[in-house]
Amino acid sequence: MRALLFDRPAPDAGATRVADLESPLPGHGEVAIDVRAAGVNFIDVMARRGDPGYATEWPFVPGLEVAGTVRALGAGVDGPAIGTPVAAFTGSGGLAEVAVVRADLVAVIPEGLSFEQAAAAPGTLTTAALLLNRLQPGESVLVHSAAGGVGQALASLARLRGAGLLLGTVGGASRVQAAEKAGYDAALIRGDGLVEAVRERTGGRGVDLILDPQGTEWIDTDLELVAPGGRIVLFGNASGTPLAPLALGPLFGGNASVGGFSIRGYSAKAPHLVAAALTDVLGKLAQGALTVDPTVVDGLDRAAEAQQALADGRGNGKYVVRL
Ligand SMILES: NC(=O)c1ccc[n+]([C@@H]2O[C@H](COP(=O)([O-])OP(=O)(O)OC[C@H]3O[C@@H](n4cnc5c(N)ncnc54)[C@H](OP(=O)(O)O)[C@@H]3O)[C@@H](O)[C@H]2O)c1
Repeated sequence: MRALLFDRPAPDAGATRVADLESPLPGHGEVAIDVRAAGVNFIDVMARRGDPGYATEWPFVPGLEVAGTVRALGAGVDGPAIGTPVAAFTGSGGLAEVAVVRADLVAVIPEGLSFEQAAAAPGTLTTAALLLNRLQPGESVLVHSAAGGVGQALASLARLRGAGLLLGTVGGASRVQAAEKAGYDAALIRGDGLVEAVRERTGGRGVDLILDPQGTEWIDTDLELVAPGGRIVLFGNASGTPLAPLALGPLFGGNASVGGFSIRGYSAKAPHLVAAALTDVLGKLAQGALTVDPTVVDGLDRAAEAQQALADGRGNGKYVVRL
């Protein structure tokens, strides 16, 4: 099979190639999938540059999420039947013609959905759905990096969950429009003036739920912006800068909570939650309650270009590779 391969950690696509590898076979409790479309994610970029905890070995086949058809079932697995269209959270190895995944992370694709749409569900939309389990209806939300794949997914799903005011932040003016189009009430540029802008829009109260994929770079600002009793959820570290220790003092005075999130953690320890959220978002996509409009890149040979667009901050939403 052909697969995208990172030979070693690299700051760019210099050690990325498409290689011919032996097709993996499903082990006990696993399913092999003939991949028809695979999501490109910022997590690929983090693995490529060698951020700790992302690439599990070198060479490394990236790929967090796939859609395709069931190719083979491992021992102890009795479905879905071979040939069934499915989507699955792979964690890694998805950017390949064949991916092997735990059977409990596979969901059947409902009729009417394309493989390209379905490939945006297991990692991107499911991450957004699981993050929003921490939202109560009517609460205000602030999402950093609002124009990215997960950022845009959070906007559409937050509306479905009954979010109140929905604020996004972006790193530069070029991403404001994409964030607003995704459904944010306002997209604010991170930097001087952010605290005042958020306070103004929340009547001075602050925001109930802050979703932050920027490591600890903005945590002090988050603590200034969180409403009494509010939550900050850290779910990424896009810059790869070492994480700073958390200053606990402001948590007391602010009556604030800081939590973490990892879909890989959920997939390892609570796969039923990932599968349930994936089934739910696929159903909402099929019903038209939720939409996703990925930029489709044709062929594994072009996957490295898409990853580079994300690495350069040129991405404005979700990218999917069609195999
Ligand atoms: N915890 C989990 O389980 C989980 C699962 C999926 C994704 N994530 C995280 O969610 C974030 C978004 O992922 P995605 O796949 O949606 O990526 P994406 O579409 O590429 O969006 C990433 C965003 O991060 C910002 N960014 C890009 N390069 C950066 C850099 N070098 N330093 C700081 N910020 C940078 C940009 O937003 P700005 O406008 O802010 O600059 C960009 O829009 C990533 O940090 C990813 O690791 C976490």
